[in-house]
Amino acid sequence: MRNNRPLARTITRRAFIQAGTTGAAAIAAFTNDSLGRVAAAAGRVADRAPADLARDETYWREIQQAFTLDRTIINLNNGGCCPSPRVVHEAFKRYLDISNQAPVYHMWQILEPNIETVRRRLAAAFGCDPEELAITRNASEALQIAQLGIDLKAGDEIVTTNQDYGRMLDTWDQRARRDGVTIKKISFPVPPPSMGDLADRLLGAITPRTKLLHFCHITNLTGQIFPVRQICDAARAKGIKTIVDGAHAFAHFPYTLADLGCDYYGTSLHKWLLAPIGTGFLYVRRENIESLWPLTATAASKAKDIRKFEEIGTHPAANHNAIAEALSFHEGIGTERKAARLRYLRNRWVDKLRSNPRINIHTSLDPAQSCAIGTVQITTVPTAKAVPQLWDKWRIIATPIVHAEYEGIRVTPNVYTTLEEIDTFIEAMERIAEGS
Ligand SMILES: Cc1ncc(COP(=O)(O)O)c(C=O)c1O
Repeated sequence: MRNNRPLARTITRRAFIQAGTTGAAAIAAFTNDSLGRVAAAAGRVADRAPADLARDETYWREIQQAFTLDRTIINLNNGGCCPSPRVVHEAFKRYLDISNQAPVYHMWQILEPNIETVRRRLAAAFGCDPEELAITRNASEALQIAQLGIDLKAGDEIVTTNQDYGRMLDTWDQRARRDGVTIKKISFPVPPPSMGDLADRLLGAITPRTKLLHFCHITNLTGQIFPVRQICDAARAKGIKTIVDGAHAFAHFPYTLADLGCDYYGTSLHKWLLAPIGTGFLYVRRENIESLWPLTATAASKAKDIRKFEEIGTHPAANHNAIAEALSFHEGIGTERKAARLRYLRNRWVDKLRSNPRINIHTSLDPAQSCAIGTVQITTVPTAKAVPQLWDKWRIIATPIVHAEYEGIRVTPNVYTTLEEIDTFIEAMERIAEGS
């Protein structure tokens, strides 16, 4: 659709294989068995409950070995962007190689139309109609399409939180400067007393001038999960639209659109789905598509087409097509199992460190309110000093979180993280806390 050249419609798969001999050779050269091994491992444990499988190191070793990592460092920042499993990275490189033969043909005519397969599969996983899902380069782009594309006038009010993502808050700030809209940011404690408290705070800030609520499905600062459906239903009843920032949610823990009920949803796929860097999607409820302006202008005839948000000019097809391989890898594990393992890894370090009088955990441990992400503070050592110590002495990567109301170290393991790596982190934190 993006490169809707007539030739694309006439090319068959057979013609592709005949024409793209280099591509076919590349496919053979890059073939490996990691996806098969993951699928076989999944088959062997098909009847096991997620919480039980979360402790099965034999199963998770198969997953760990599906990655090509540098095991001389311990990467506990999987909140920024993540390594792809080997099979995904190889698909990505293969599509780049195929593209480079004659990009105007191999990339535009052969690879690009297959974005529709990716759209269909992502929509099935998210639980929306494919005609409501645009593939973007990241969550920032997805969310900014919504933030900058909705008609608003001076005096209109947007309610958000002061723990939303910095770039998204900057985007609202720019709209305030440019269009005179008002941004109201609510505060909340970490962890909050309850999920209901979060809903009350956001909904309680609504005034007759409020046109939009913008909030995270799960925050990047402490991994707090919001009661999205409750908030969106209440907003909808008042005629207020909802933008939900799902950058950290998709493929992290189980949910579908039916659990959200929002108007707009943006996520990254290079975080928890483990897709190539430069991938995300935007969901727009069908009734909102026509009135939402794309960031890159398109013809009026495309106004009702979700693909208008993908008209970004020339771009690689490799990134978005390799999302399909990431979905296969993800589905080979299953979201329930992945979430159970991520909570198991998170609880392993939290359970050990929470009894330390020098350590505060800012993340709720209620499974409904959190998953892989945990934020921890060593009260005796400033975060700005503790994080470099983790790296300098232990080669552990973790993220400093410094918010106006609290600070801490954000820890995000992934499916490839080993128990030995978690235990090393526990030891490092205990030593740093006692000043040794
Ligand atoms: C809550 C939240 N929203 C949005 C983003 C932006 O994501 P991206 O960098 O993929 O555009 C991030 C990135 O970390 C995030 O944590």
